[in-house]
Amino acid sequence: MLMSLTPVPQRMPEAPPPAYLSDTYHWAYLNCRTLPWLDQPWVVSAILWGNARRLMRSAVEEFGPGQQVLQAAAVYGDFSQRLAARLEPHGSLEVVDVAPIQIANVRRKLAPWARSLTRVADLSLPLDKTYDGVCCFFLLHEVPPATRRAIVDNLLQSVKPGGKIVFVDYHKPRWWHPLAPLMRLIFKYLEPYAPSLQQEDIARLSPEGECFDWSYTRFFGGLYQKRVGIRKA
Ligand SMILES: C[S@@+](CC[C@H](N)C(=O)[O-])C[C@H]1O[C@@H](n2cnc3c(N)ncnc32)[C@H](O)[C@@H]1O
Repeated sequence: MLMSLTPVPQRMPEAPPPAYLSDTYHWAYLNCRTLPWLDQPWVVSAILWGNARRLMRSAVEEFGPGQQVLQAAAVYGDFSQRLAARLEPHGSLEVVDVAPIQIANVRRKLAPWARSLTRVADLSLPLDKTYDGVCCFFLLHEVPPATRRAIVDNLLQSVKPGGKIVFVDYHKPRWWHPLAPLMRLIFKYLEPYAPSLQQEDIARLSPEGECFDWSYTRFFGGLYQKRVGIRKA
């Protein structure tokens, strides 16, 4: 019997990066000179106003030993190593990023974790696998709204029944937050898509969100959020 197989569209490794990435973030993610400078825990800590360890710990602790977890996009510093260590001894981490230079870098960092996987793919296109857990750390504020919705939809679809998805990202700070004016300036010049995320509820970016039970934690006067969804069985 002949079966009709629908190929899953995947960004080919040689495809150019999305325009928003090369136009806005080339200096941060696609430049081999700046990458080693930015990929240091103290730089990540400075960018997150000293909250990096707390936010990373909070995300990593949502997962447990033995799970198969997808990390949606590379993260600077030691985030991937922490997450891979958390899944030991029998679990495994897969990191997917659209930029080959980022995948080469994370592959180097994850070398001690023999079961870990890395691959170049665009997360705004459907994924071909499902996972016990999905972790998306500070990706959504860097992509335009339509791409953001596609990414959230694909990530939600890739969570197994009973599995968990964790988003950590910017959020709207409280009105009294002393850094709010400075963050508005930083977003204006460096992170143009971040203000649109601050107006949105991640859980409602895709109709698939209704298949999850959601919880919500705010950090640092509301400047950061953790949104956790568990897929209903
Ligand atoms: C996770 S985000 C930002 C993380 C955080 N600012 C940090 O400390 O690294 C950065 C990554 O997202 C990746 N990225 C952006 N758009 C993507 C997409 N559509 N699919 C997969 N990866 C994407 C970029 O290549 C980059 O490596």
